Amino acid sequence: MIQFNYTNLFKAKDPQITEEELKDTANLIAKYLENIKAKDQGFYEIVNEDPSGILEYAAQVKGQFDDIVILGIGGSALGNICLRDTLTHPFKASPRLRIIDNVDPYLIEKLDETLNYDRTLFIVISKSGGTPETLAQYMYFKEKTASENFVFITGKEGFLRETGEKENIKTFSVPENVGGRFSVLTAVGLLPAALIGIDIKNLLKGGQEMARKFLSEEFNTNLSFQFAAIQYLLNQKGVNINVMMPYTNRLKTFADWYSQLLAESIGKDGKGITPVSALGTTDQHSQVQLYNEGPRDKMIIFLEVENHESEIKIPDSDVNHEKINFLKNVQFAHLINAEKRATEGAITDYGKANMTFKIDKVNEKNLGGLFMAFEGATAFLGEFFQIDAFNQPGVELGKKLTKKYLEN
Ligand code: PA5
Repeated sequence: MIQFNYTNLFKAKDPQITEEELKDTANLIAKYLENIKAKDQGFYEIVNEDPSGILEYAAQVKGQFDDIVILGIGGSALGNICLRDTLTHPFKASPRLRIIDNVDPYLIEKLDETLNYDRTLFIVISKSGGTPETLAQYMYFKEKTASENFVFITGKEGFLRETGEKENIKTFSVPENVGGRFSVLTAVGLLPAALIGIDIKNLLKGGQEMARKFLSEEFNTNLSFQFAAIQYLLNQKGVNINVMMPYTNRLKTFADWYSQLLAESIGKDGKGITPVSALGTTDQHSQVQLYNEGPRDKMIIFLEVENHESEIKIPDSDVNHEKINFLKNVQFAHLINAEKRATEGAITDYGKANMTFKIDKVNEKNLGGLFMAFEGATAFLGEFFQIDAFNQPGVELGKKLTKKYLEN
């Protein structure tokens, strides 16, 4: 269950949006949906695809590997980092999922030193099949182990597709009409997830339910549209920073995943919203001072979990002192949620725009739903801003210059 509560917005001051202003955007839903469909983007349809090929492969290799290493970057890595951090044990996952998401030599070398290559599976993920960082990682590790220990996930053509065919490497496909940052619910996210024991059928189920809402022309049903409309209206009044602040460590890297989605999709033509990722309660002692008393250029998006699935308590204590008495016998789950309410209350009292996405539990279905909700919102936001949310021309120049500097 995912609930979106934005009533605090109407209490914000300078800038503020009214409920009427927000509801007035409802007449745009049908047109915007038509525009998005015309762009032939598959992110909201792929969740209906049959994952049995992925499940079969995962069952076939089960128990063979201690480490699974993803070689990839950006949209080919961030969704997997989020899936791992949200849905697996933080300290003793098996097999372990390692994701480099960079060409940092220190990191690569240290990983190399720790791997048992006979029990390591490399998944090379690149839709284009030609991203230099990913190819550099692949060229390095391919010298270390047999080609049977590689799997590719790639588009229909390019270096990886050709190499996969030539060397008979098991290859899964990224659908042509799904871009990297929208691909977490394709083989890009599903294959690694299945290999580390995540229930991908439930992940897809959550995605399907939210996709139906995304396709609804009803304002009250369409959570993605509501969220996009809020961001656009606030942006028109000077709010150009989105702070996503989950109150659970498990969703910390969901905020990182969303940062890429928002930045790369919407930052174009001089327009855009800057993503910031925060963590409750940690950043109450780092960033919240700024959010309360700093410039009125931010909206805070809280992610709240109702049931943390833990009953551990702060123990009772013989010591009687006003500094600790209120903490005695309090469940940590109650503490973290009370701190969220307190931060939200303070931010609201300061008149700052904030809203909350609340889930009953951290599980596959809710994560699948959240991925889809934010992907859908990003597609709608592209319509509001009248930009193409699905391309990324601004990263091309850097790629060209890297090549030039290496060649000279
Ligand atoms: O969202 C995107 O398209 C990008 O962030 C890509 O995921 C990233 O550049 C990696 O591209 P590729 O999957 O082609 O290696």
